[in-house]
Amino acid sequence: MASGVTSQSSARWRPVTGHRSRLARRAPSRVQTAERTVAPSRPIASTQQRGEVVLDVQDLKTYFFTYDGVVRALDGVNLTVRRGETTGLVGETGCGKSVTAFSIARLVSEPGRVMSGKITFRGANLLWGLEKEAKYRRVAKSNRVKVSRSFRRIKAANERLASVRGRGIAMIFQEPSAAMNPVFSIWDQVGEALLLHRGIEIVDGLLAADRAWGESRGLLGSDVEYSSGASEIAHAGGGHAATTAAIAALVHAALAGDQLETRAAADRLGETVSLPTLAPEAFYTVRNMGMDAELLRRRVLRSLRRVPLTRMQRNYLRLRRRQMVLDAELGQVSFREMKTGKPFRFQRRAIQLRKLRSRLRGSYFRFWGIRRRVERPLKEETFWRVVQALEGVRIANPVQIARGYPHELSGGMLQRVMISMALSCEPEVLLADEPTTALDVTIQAQILELMRQLRERVGTAIVLITHDLGVVAEVCDHVNVMYAGLIVESAPVGELFRRPLHPYTQGLLGSIPRYDHPEKELTSIPGSVPNLISPPPGCRFHPRCPYAMPICKERRPESLPQGEDHTVSCFLYESPAEPAPAEPAAAPFEPSTVEPNASLPRGVPRPV
Ligand SMILES: Nc1ncnc2c1ncn2[C@@H]1O[C@H](COP(=O)(O)OP(=O)(O)OP(=O)(O)O)[C@@H](O)[C@H]1O
Ligand code: SF4
Ligand SMILES: [Mg+2]
Repeated sequence: MASGVTSQSSARWRPVTGHRSRLARRAPSRVQTAERTVAPSRPIASTQQRGEVVLDVQDLKTYFFTYDGVVRALDGVNLTVRRGETTGLVGETGCGKSVTAFSIARLVSEPGRVMSGKITFRGANLLWGLEKEAKYRRVAKSNRVKVSRSFRRIKAANERLASVRGRGIAMIFQEPSAAMNPVFSIWDQVGEALLLHRGIEIVDGLLAADRAWGESRGLLGSDVEYSSGASEIAHAGGGHAATTAAIAALVHAALAGDQLETRAAADRLGETVSLPTLAPEAFYTVRNMGMDAELLRRRVLRSLRRVPLTRMQRNYLRLRRRQMVLDAELGQVSFREMKTGKPFRFQRRAIQLRKLRSRLRGSYFRFWGIRRRVERPLKEETFWRVVQALEGVRIANPVQIARGYPHELSGGMLQRVMISMALSCEPEVLLADEPTTALDVTIQAQILELMRQLRERVGTAIVLITHDLGVVAEVCDHVNVMYAGLIVESAPVGELFRRPLHPYTQGLLGSIPRYDHPEKELTSIPGSVPNLISPPPGCRFHPRCPYAMPICKERRPESLPQGEDHTVSCFLYESPAEPAPAEPAAAPFEPSTVEPNASLPRGVPRPV
C-alpha cells in the first residue's frame, strides 16, 4: 500500500481508540484518547436516508490452487453494497481487494476458484450451483490440492452470469492493458460492450430516425437537399425548433467556409440533442477542423444523408433486434433461475429454439458482400456512440483514439477507455478497482465527478477499491478495511475517520501525511501482509499488532457491532462474556471428498 506502510517504522506506531473496552479499562495506559488524522467535510452517510441493499456478500471464500499450496486469498469476506452509495474497500497490497471484486463478478481465473459463500445481487444468488462445478482432493504427502472441474457446469454458470455482467455488475479493471485485447481496435472493444448491453436501444434509434426521415420527406417533398437532414435531426431531437435552426446554421456556415462560425454552430448543435443521433460525423469534423472547406462540405452532406436505410438494411436491423430481444429473454430466465434456485429448462429450450429459427431465417445476411453492406449503419452508429463515450471521459481527439489499438495508448488513456466502457453500460453495481491510479490529479477529479454523476443519475452502487484515503474521504459513504483476506472493520466514512477502532485501521490512518501538522511524525505498521498459503492462526494481524494477547493467537475474532453500521473484528472490543471454545488448529485445506477415479472430459488437460 502506498500510504507509508513500510516494513520498519521510524517512529513507534501507537494505535489510538476512544472505546472504553474491557481491556481498555484493565490497561488504560495502552489506549489513548481518539485523535483524528483526516476528517471528511461531508455528513456521515448513516445519518442520511440509505438506499436498499443491492449486493450482499456473505462469508465469501476464494482460493488459488498453486504448486506451492493453497492461497487463501479470501477467507470469509462480508460486504454490503447499497443503491446509490459508494462503498470503499481499502487495505495494503495483497490483502485481497481485487480478488474480492473478481469473485463478485465471478471472473476469478485459473488456478483460482470461488469456494463457498453467498453473493446476492437483487435477490439472485450468483453462486447458485457452485458446489457442483468442481471437486477437490488433496495430493498425498504435499500441500497441493487436485481440482476436478466440471467444464459443462462452469460453461452453464458463465452463460447464466452473462445476464448480470455489464448492465447489472460492471467492472473497471486495475490493469487495463491486461484486460484489453491487443488485436482489436478500441472501437471494436468498446462497441462490442455497447452492442451487447445497449444494442436494442441503438437499433431502435436507427429505425426511429429512418421512420422520421420517411415522414419528413412526405411533408417536405423533394425540397432543398439539406432540409431532409435538418428535419431528420429535428425529429431525433424531438422536433425541437432550436435543433433545426442549429443544423441549418451549421450547414450554411460549412458551405460558406467560415470555420469560426461553423465551429460555433457545431457547439450550439451539440447542446441541443444527443450527438449520435444527429449527424455526429459533421459535428466532430467541424470540431476538429483543420481540413479544407470543400472536404468539410462533403463530409457534412454525407453525414446528413446517413438515413434512409435500404430495405435490406432495415430487414437486417429488425432481425438483429429480434435476436437481441431473445438474448434478453434468455437473460431473464437465467436471472429467475438464480433467484428461485430452480432450473427452467423448458423456457430456456423454447427461447433457444426461437433463436435458432431466427438465425436460420437471416442466414443469407452471412455472405460477406451482403453483410458488409447491411451492417454499415449499425457499425457507424456504434462508432459514433463509442466516440461519445470516449469524449465523456475527457479523451482528446476521440475519433482518432476510437480507431486506434490498445498499444498505441498510454496507461492513463487506456484506463479512461476502460472507464468509458464500464460507464456506458450504466450498471447497477460498478466495481471500480483503483480506477484513478494512473491518472493525473485533474483527470482523476473529472473521473470521480463522472462516477458521482452516474451514481446520481442511474442510482449506481459503486464499490471503490483504492489506496488513496483522501479519495475515500471525499467520495465514499461507507468504508471497509481489509486485511489478509478478511474485512476487519466496516463503518460510515465520517465515523471511520473520526473513530477508527481496529489497530490496523489506526495504523493505516496514522501513516497519512498532514499538511496542517507538519511537525507530526509519520507512523508506519511494522512487518507486511502474511503469506496467505499459511496465514497466522487466530487473528491474522497478531504478528504485527502491539496489542496482541494470547487469545489473539488462538481464535479468530468475530465481527462485533460498535454503534450504528460500525463493526470491528478485534478482541479489544469483545464484552466480558462467556469465553468461546478455542479454535481447532487450522488444517491447511479442508477439501470436499471426490471419488478417487473422478474423470474429466476427454481431451481436457488435467488441472493440478
Ligand atoms: N492468479 C493468482 N495465483 C495465485 N495467487 C494469487 C493470484 N491472484 C491473486 N493471488 C493472491 O491473492 C492475494 C490477494 O491479491 P489481490 O490482487 O486481491 O491483492 P490487492 O489487495 O488487490 O493488492 P493491490 O493493492 O496490490 O492491487 C495475494 O496474496 C495474491 O498473491
Ligand atoms: S484481535 Fe488482532 S487486532 Fe485485535 S488486539 Fe488481537 S491481534 Fe490485535
Ligand atoms: Mg488489486
